[in-house]
Amino acid sequence: MAGTWDQNAGLKAASPIAVKVEEVALRWLLDVLKLPSTAAGAFVTGATMANFTSLAAARHAVLAKVGWDVESNGLFGAPPITVIVGEEAHPTLFRSLSMLGLGHQRVVKVPVDDQGRMIASQLPEINGPTIICTQAGNVNSGGFDPIGEVCAKAHAAGAWVHVDGAFGLWASATPNRAHLAAGVGDADSWATDGHKWLNVPYDSGLAFIRDPESLRSALRLTAAYLPESTSREPSQFTPELSRRARGIEVWAALRSLGRSGIADLVERNCQYATRFAEGLSAAGYTILNDVVLNQVVVSFGNDESNRRVIAGIQQEGTSWCGPTHWRGQSAMRISVSSWATTAEDVEQSLAAMLEVAEEVRVP
Ligand SMILES: Cc1ncc(COP(=O)(O)O)c(C=O)c1O
Repeated sequence: MAGTWDQNAGLKAASPIAVKVEEVALRWLLDVLKLPSTAAGAFVTGATMANFTSLAAARHAVLAKVGWDVESNGLFGAPPITVIVGEEAHPTLFRSLSMLGLGHQRVVKVPVDDQGRMIASQLPEINGPTIICTQAGNVNSGGFDPIGEVCAKAHAAGAWVHVDGAFGLWASATPNRAHLAAGVGDADSWATDGHKWLNVPYDSGLAFIRDPESLRSALRLTAAYLPESTSREPSQFTPELSRRARGIEVWAALRSLGRSGIADLVERNCQYATRFAEGLSAAGYTILNDVVLNQVVVSFGNDESNRRVIAGIQQEGTSWCGPTHWRGQSAMRISVSSWATTAEDVEQSLAAMLEVAEEVRVP
């Protein structure tokens, strides 16, 4: 509907209804994800851009604190910003950092544990303008950084904490998994995707910023030809001016699923991941992660076996799984995140995986 209707959600004058629908969706999202109800939100294309948008607000805030106006003056001669990330930060986070002039090589990397979670006790001492990028949901293990602990340390030293929760932020929406996201609400900004666990059409990323003024200041736009407005103009909170009214789809998914429907969707996928892990483990294959969410990392023996089995599963076609590297070894990555996946699909996929593995792995 959003595509056919073809509304421009950037400006209230262009589409009052699209803007209103997004405002309602934003309020519901903050509620369901247990984030501060007064946070600002931005509907963007994906988590890469949601990280970018959040980090633009972070960059503004930490430099404004030391009297530097980065939007006017850029980073030329600016006080340096220390950017701290976990060793297991998602590759796209580094792209967001480099697009903001923060560089992807000059970051300080914090060591991680066997689930890819940042070890909070190994955070460096924090001095001056600092942004810490945490992760809710490692793309391989599904592990969560200890975000509450990081926030306590960071905030005591005046640093900004960002959460990349592309899929993992949705753990907050289900009672059985919410403990994984403990402390997430203490952060300053959050990025997630609508096109992952909420299952809305691509492209749909979401950025939330505790202090709306930081986001507005980072992305402020003035143009004589645009209508003056005293109300919230979405384009003051996103990198784009014109854009698709993707919030309509988010609104519709939230409206039809409700809190219990979202909790059920997330929980079901997590249980399916556990079933995959149990089935593969029972057949003698090694599960390399603690299956706490919807991710399973499995090894079929050695590199050659993994390569053959993954190629075989992709060729066989019941389900699709890709290769990965986890804690120094090759593996196959299973990610269960579709509303349409049924228990029967999981059993069929598991049976097909086991058959292929038995047939092609190196004995
Ligand atoms: C943790 C994490 N961050 C960022 C991204 C990038 O998301 P997108 O493809 O929506 O830009 C992903 C994608 O899988 C992810 O898992």
